[in-house]
Amino acid sequence: MRRVLAVLLCAAAPAALAGAPADLLRDYEAQARRGDPGFAGASPARGAELYRRSGIASAGPEAGCASCHSPDPRWPGRHGRTGKPIAPLAPAANPERLADPAQAEKWFRRNCRDVLARECTAQEKADFVRFLIEAK
Ligand code: HEC
Repeated sequence: MRRVLAVLLCAAAPAALAGAPADLLRDYEAQARRGDPGFAGASPARGAELYRRSGIASAGPEAGCASCHSPDPRWPGRHGRTGKPIAPLAPAANPERLADPAQAEKWFRRNCRDVLARECTAQEKADFVRFLIEAK
């Protein structure tokens, strides 16, 4: 269902905007609103809080999003376990980010499970994406 919606949104958007981070944000906000009609829109402050929170799961107690993605999403990071470099998460620093909804979903699923021991909610993903878009 989520994938179908993403495809529809992309098909409806003008070609130049297809796959833009703003489309991903709109998609997650729409999902969050379906789950909670009182949802007032994505909050970059809550996104920043999630980014800096420490993990509780298999990645270890120190391992929040920032532990792999660096303290600032405009900076390159490094994988905590493998040491592999990770390109910056903020689209301002890395235009390839948040352009492919399937790619974003895959990594949200994996990393949220790793850090929070559960999947992120649509609201958390909307907050996080807005935080990344506004990191300039
Ligand atoms: C153990 C290391 C690690 C942690 C912790 C981690 N990530 Fe990641 N993340 C990665 C790797 C590796 C990739 C994929 C490599 C790449 O895209 O450069 C990635 C990619 C992503 C992407 C893909 C973005 C895109 O569109 O290309 C998102 C979104 C993301 N992470 C969100 C998060 C969030 C949210 C958290 C915290 C809940 C988090 N990550 C914690 C390692 C990590």
